Amino acid sequence: MIFQLYESSPGLLAVGVVLSLATVAVLTIRIWGDFVGNAILSTFNGGVLSTGRAAPGPQWQWPNGQFADKFLNGAARSEEWRKYGPVYRVWAGPKPEIVLTTPEDLKVFHTDSDKHTKPLDGNFGWFFDKVLGRCVGLLSLDEWKNMRRVVDPSFTHGASVKRISVTESDARAFVENLHTISNEGAEIAKTKGRFTVPAMAAFMKFPFIFTAEVVYGNMTEAEKEELWAIAEKRQALLPFFFKGSFYRTSYLKWFDRPAYNQLQEFLDSWAEFNTRMARSRREQGLPLPIVTYWDEYLQGNITLEQVTHTLDEMLFANLDVTTHVLTWAITLVADHENVKKELREEIEAHKDNLQEYITNVNTHLHRCYYESLRLRPIAVFSIGESAPSVKNFRGIHVKPNTMVLVDTYAINVRNPFWGPNSEEYDPNRFRNLKSTDLRYNLFVFGFGYRKCLGQYLAGHMVKAILVHLFSQYDVKIIDGRKGKADYDIDKTTWVPVADVTVELTKLQ
Ligand code: HEM
Repeated sequence: MIFQLYESSPGLLAVGVVLSLATVAVLTIRIWGDFVGNAILSTFNGGVLSTGRAAPGPQWQWPNGQFADKFLNGAARSEEWRKYGPVYRVWAGPKPEIVLTTPEDLKVFHTDSDKHTKPLDGNFGWFFDKVLGRCVGLLSLDEWKNMRRVVDPSFTHGASVKRISVTESDARAFVENLHTISNEGAEIAKTKGRFTVPAMAAFMKFPFIFTAEVVYGNMTEAEKEELWAIAEKRQALLPFFFKGSFYRTSYLKWFDRPAYNQLQEFLDSWAEFNTRMARSRREQGLPLPIVTYWDEYLQGNITLEQVTHTLDEMLFANLDVTTHVLTWAITLVADHENVKKELREEIEAHKDNLQEYITNVNTHLHRCYYESLRLRPIAVFSIGESAPSVKNFRGIHVKPNTMVLVDTYAINVRNPFWGPNSEEYDPNRFRNLKSTDLRYNLFVFGFGYRKCLGQYLAGHMVKAILVHLFSQYDVKIIDGRKGKADYDIDKTTWVPVADVTVELTKLQ
């Protein structure tokens, strides 16, 4: 038959042979690449000492290891990798990362947490490093302390409590105007007193603009629109963080010039916007955080990149995070009738002192918020950090400066501490728990020495929205449910945001 083909059309046969050889070559390189790459990396860059036992875990895969998968398919991977036991290794590009899944190992890891460090690119590589590599969340030791000195004052518990009247009134106004962004259109929604909103799109802008105004002070509509346009440019860069291979290196500029130009355009517009905002606020004599950050930069105490990357972390990197937290809190309360009823009664009982109520942590409202943070952590695998000392996790001796991550779902949900109904939404489980009980049993704002800068601000924002939403409307989830207790997840962000439609009916 081959002979006949050679006789009749030798060209076709030649093309077939070349294609077959190429396929075999690619497959061989792929399989050998994985095999040899895994052997070389495990032997020479495995992150563990030979004095302990070998680290189990998935094989390194050409060319990025498990780097993107652990973020984009976190829930499935967390389940799949359970077979490796409580401590295992994955790979971010060629770098080993150790995953912890139990509170006992977290405690061992955090004994020297004040000396922990993070790589400036968070193990994401060059593209990420250009956008966020000098943000406060990735600085270490004295540089981190210095940057926290600059940014802390406007985000402390005291500062957030002082701002509570603005938080509460902004949340009230936002909820009162929700009909203007409804699927049905403002007029119909107002007349009918019932309308629907897509949760993610509806609840994204409020925390974003609210946080921005903490930094820049009151913004004009034009400034808000400009900031939102830059946020959209920044969101468009997100896929490049996860592409891996040469996007992890500066060679990207030779391989994908448009992506490189897109990056530069965003970086330039972000630096320019902040320069202008700092100048205009200083000229108005306003004692705002942006003016302080700029002065510190001009005095040489911090760098320009530390300022712009930290502002990116507060606003753009957090856009998906706060949207995630807010939409899950709304979705889970709305879908649990008893919880919703108790919340409405509690809000009614506090209607004359709402601001104090929102800041109080000993309430059903706060427990509703915390329970949704527990059940729907912002990422299944944390970004991680490394210790300067050898860490012995169940006989695996992890080398100093090796990235250690947390499987947050293992800690917040599979952990026996949370009992047999750990997958259920039950705010009352927090009723008798002390903060010391939660120390290594709950991943919310970080473990150990360094914690989320915006934790108090975020808590007040989310709770203020819940208060006004559930007291002004009957809230129902009418679309986006998957089975009895699961929901669709948005695929465009790096955090698993609920992709549901909310129906709001005005209460009399
Ligand atoms: C409820 C919403 C939020 C959650 C669940 C959350 C969670 C976290 C977590 C887990 C970390 C990592 C801590 C670590 O290093 O281990 C973090 C860090 C950080 N967050 Fe948040 N965050 C939220 C909202 C915000 C907001 C609104 C801001 C805006 C100011 C913010 C700013 C930051 C910053 C700057 C860091 C780095 C802190 C540092 O390492 O010094 N976060 N956050």
